[in-house]
Amino acid sequence: MDRSPPRCYFADMNDLSLSILPETTGDAQAIERLHERTFGPGRYVLSAYRIREHVDHLLELSFTARIGTLLVGSVRQLPILIGDTPALLLGPLTVEPPFRDRGVGRRLLERALEDARVQGHRLVLLVGDEPYYSRVGFKQVPKGRVTMPGPVDYDRVLVFELVEGAFEGVSGPIGPDWSKARA
Ligand SMILES: CC(C)(COP(=O)(O)OP(=O)(O)OC[C@H]1O[C@@H](n2cnc3c(N)ncnc32)[C@H](O)[C@@H]1OP(=O)(O)O)[C@@H](O)C(=O)NCCC(=O)NCCS
Repeated sequence: MDRSPPRCYFADMNDLSLSILPETTGDAQAIERLHERTFGPGRYVLSAYRIREHVDHLLELSFTARIGTLLVGSVRQLPILIGDTPALLLGPLTVEPPFRDRGVGRRLLERALEDARVQGHRLVLLVGDEPYYSRVGFKQVPKGRVTMPGPVDYDRVLVFELVEGAFEGVSGPIGPDWSKARA
């Protein structure tokens, strides 16, 4: 009889295949519940949500992480303008707490950035923790270069150039890309 201790479920996670898939309309409820659990009702006052009021995220550039059928993480991207330069706003990036620190967030980020680049986008902006996002190459936006609607901590406004030099000379207010706004 095998008397070895039971292997922890999480120790097995690397053996389970994690799928990163484009978001579908059917994912909306599960993602909303994940955001509610992670960010709570206060999320609606955040600056990034002000922009999301006007423009939908792009399903083809938003991704879910699943283990089997279980949704364990999500990242979304939506079209914005920085001044008159088109860019993407990344977020929220969320991973279910029991599945954190196992590379799920990084896999979601890498897929979102890679597909954005392949689809011809040049810049991705987000509001988040620099120590985390700098791991994949996000950099702080120099103070005064951009403004956002509503309350925002400008130390947390970060940018990723999908094309080298794409942020050079770009500045101004950040807002929804009105050409893609909801009717
Ligand atoms: C931030 C978040 C998405 C990371 O997902 P994850 O799957 O745990 O991340 P990864 O496994 O790719 O990376 C884990 C590493 O990042 C570090 N890390 C996680 N959150 C961090 C943060 N806010 N700041 C700095 N480092 C962070 C971990 O300590 C870990 O470090 P290690 O590799 O040295 O052990 C997840 O913690 C989360 O959902 N948090 C709550 C929601 C949130 O804050 N989202 C971001 C703002 S939109």
